[in-house]
Amino acid sequence: MKAVAVFPGKKDSIHLTKLERPSVDSKPPGLEIRAGYGVVIRILKVGVDATDKEINEAQYGAAPPGCQELVLGHESFGIIEEIGPNVRGLKPGDYVTATVRRPGSSLHDRIGMSDMTSEETYFERGINLLHGFLTEYVVDDALYVVKVPQGLKHLHVLMEPMSIAAKAVEQAFEAQRRMRVWRPERAFVLGAGQIGLLTTLILKLRGLEVYTLARSQAPTRNSEIVEAYGAEYVSLSDTSLVELAGRVGRADLIVEATGNSTVAFNSMEVLGINGVLVWTSITGGDFSTNVQSDAINLKWVLGNKLLMGTVNANREHFEAGIKELALGEMMYPGVTQRILTNPVEGLENYQELIRLLVEEKSALKVFMNVADV
Ligand code: BGC
Ligand code: ZN
Repeated sequence: MKAVAVFPGKKDSIHLTKLERPSVDSKPPGLEIRAGYGVVIRILKVGVDATDKEINEAQYGAAPPGCQELVLGHESFGIIEEIGPNVRGLKPGDYVTATVRRPGSSLHDRIGMSDMTSEETYFERGINLLHGFLTEYVVDDALYVVKVPQGLKHLHVLMEPMSIAAKAVEQAFEAQRRMRVWRPERAFVLGAGQIGLLTTLILKLRGLEVYTLARSQAPTRNSEIVEAYGAEYVSLSDTSLVELAGRVGRADLIVEATGNSTVAFNSMEVLGINGVLVWTSITGGDFSTNVQSDAINLKWVLGNKLLMGTVNANREHFEAGIKELALGEMMYPGVTQRILTNPVEGLENYQELIRLLVEEKSALKVFMNVADV
């Protein structure tokens, strides 16, 4: 069967390759699948993002043990083809997605929280040391296969990005239990890409006043989605963060998802007392930025402010994210699917995936249509 892979460490090495079609008892390199718990998924769609672009630029990414190639793709959506005899709660014909990270050996890895591993090395399908989903069939342990309701199949590849947004918000609320009572009223979401938009949705569903900021001037598709969720879109080209805070007040919660570390640091100036700032961007460069460190330090100490990084997501965040998407469809029908802008037809058109990621600035979500739903 066909698969799209790179040679990690080699720039622009994206290519089409061949893999053996897996069965429920296959043992793909590096993956542990308990006997009888294999689930074979026929892949329907795979989303791509900056991570895939950066792996193809050889910024990071590693092949599984014994392999030269890494199959790309971490945002999966498919249909179950076959299950092992011990699998419960899943059946052929179910729509599913799969989590990305697989456990190492730390305590958190062993209790289903590999997103919180305490080891330096992490194992991520399509990113690091494990093959991804940009192929026709994959097999995985049922533990990592998450059911997607039939009624959400039109949102297919958004399950994984939503898990990232769901974890970011859940972690913020979890951390804020330090306040005993925390009733955030105002949130700033920095960035109106997929993570920023999905975070905007979750925060609106929680009843917050949300300002979503991005560089472009409205109207754009992104600004329209923000407004359709009932949030306010603010263009950083006409309003600075400090100006926004001057107009509406500082934020109780800030989620940063711009991919720009300068914005990440600058946002420290506009967090309110007792607030929490969550960083989600993976910045692979080596840029440095100047900040007003004395002023920020002072205000952060006097205001009990918290800065938190968050990466990846475990099964619970996928499940929570799927519920948020379902509620989102009730509250804002037809809005979320507007994120899915750029399908590419067929694995052999892999070059088009990268072209869209690199060149097409208006592409909000690029995904491979491996097979029709
Ligand atoms: C993925 C995460 C992953 C992170 C770092 C993101 O694009 O969505 O699952 O943990 O990259 O590799
Ligand atoms: Zn992604």
